[in-house]
Amino acid sequence: MTESDFLTSAPPASAQQGADAAPYLVVEDLTVRFPTADGVVQAVTGLNYTLKQGKTLGIVGESGSGKSVSSMAIMGLHDPKRTDMSGSIRVGGREVIGLSNNQMQTLRGGEVAMIFQDPLTSLHPFYSIGDQIAEAYRAHNKVSKAQAKAKAVDMLDRVGIPQARNRVDDYPHQFSGGMRQRAMIAMSLSNDPKLLIADEPTTALDVTVQAQILDLLQELQRDFDSAIIIITHDLGVVAEMADEVLVMYAGRGVEHGPTRELLTHPEMPYTWGLLSSVPDVTASTESRLLPIPGNPPSLLNPPTGCPYHPRCAHRDKVPGDLCRTELPELIPGRRGPAHLKRCHLANPDMIYETEVLPEIAPDLVELVTEESLEDTSDPRHPGSPENADQIDTPQRRAPDPDGEVK
Ligand SMILES: Nc1ncnc2c1ncn2[C@@H]1O[C@H](COP(=O)(O)OP(=O)(O)O)[C@@H](O)[C@H]1O
Ligand code: SF4
Ligand SMILES: [Mg+2]
Repeated sequence: MTESDFLTSAPPASAQQGADAAPYLVVEDLTVRFPTADGVVQAVTGLNYTLKQGKTLGIVGESGSGKSVSSMAIMGLHDPKRTDMSGSIRVGGREVIGLSNNQMQTLRGGEVAMIFQDPLTSLHPFYSIGDQIAEAYRAHNKVSKAQAKAKAVDMLDRVGIPQARNRVDDYPHQFSGGMRQRAMIAMSLSNDPKLLIADEPTTALDVTVQAQILDLLQELQRDFDSAIIIITHDLGVVAEMADEVLVMYAGRGVEHGPTRELLTHPEMPYTWGLLSSVPDVTASTESRLLPIPGNPPSLLNPPTGCPYHPRCAHRDKVPGDLCRTELPELIPGRRGPAHLKRCHLANPDMIYETEVLPEIAPDLVELVTEESLEDTSDPRHPGSPENADQIDTPQRRAPDPDGEVK
């Protein structure tokens, strides 16, 4: 079965979470190229995924893998003069590629909103926090200034700013980093977005504030039934927040599936590398930190074949020169149609259990192996092990001594 066969014959992972509701976001064969003086940057290539309201997709991958570029495409944030984009992005049934800036602005900040890593990119230093939230609200609602201000206080209160009424006229520099992040979330959520994209929303925050902000996103998702995309390098955040995970490498999706399934039974060596390089991957004191050797490839000139092949420790298990010469398609793995992987390995589950897992988390081996045996008796639910709740998922990163998380 090829990738295109799969796309037409079986719904992607998120579409399986409820046969009734149509996905709110459909990204199909998205390709983003930046022509530059040095050549064409192949930032995103042939990306496919869907997302329903009320669901959260985690997008993970090393720096430069196309996470932000693909998400900014949904928001229409690429300059059409400097960007070649193809494929399709449908938000609530409407195609957004090709929309004018005015049309896009109607969507942005209303139906779809984005939270950036650095709140200062979204908050203007010269205007009060309250005025900025009120303006964002007024841009999409016919209300008086007083009503918009009241809404700003209400939103600041909802995101946990103490004494919101007294702080609403503060300027961004008068807020701490965590409070600015909350203010940006308040602004993003003031129009009850149906789709919220959070791009590394907690990377620069200490663990306590990080946890509060993630709780807040979950709470607001429950209230607004928003679809959320959370972009993060932190697999602990993914484990806690996401219903499904998309792993990106060199601008492509390389593994995609329900979160618990993907974190406990990853089938792509790059995902193994990400899991191995998480500090404290399980509660076990025996777990080890194994950084992925080498660097992500240049997207000016990505490798032939599987883009991960120059760094992959398992390519010699694939016959011939296939890894170097032929790009694997993103197709269902061995554990059911909801879990897709892009890799030529014929028996990734065995390699993971016998070679990879013992290296990173010895105490997981027994659970995962037992679970695999149980799974074979119920082929209808290959990705939904009954005992998955007992399996540890990666823990959140510990902060540096100065409280910043790298
Ligand atoms: N406007 C741009 N012009 C040229 N290259 C860009 C531009 N924006 C991003 N890129 C490149 O596209 C690739 C993907 O970037 P990005 O999506 O930001 O990665 P990340 O996964 O870290 O979010 C990187 O190689 C980056 O340097
Ligand atoms: S296709 Fe080959 S190089 Fe790529 S991840 Fe699989 S084994 Fe490694
Ligand atoms: Mg990014």
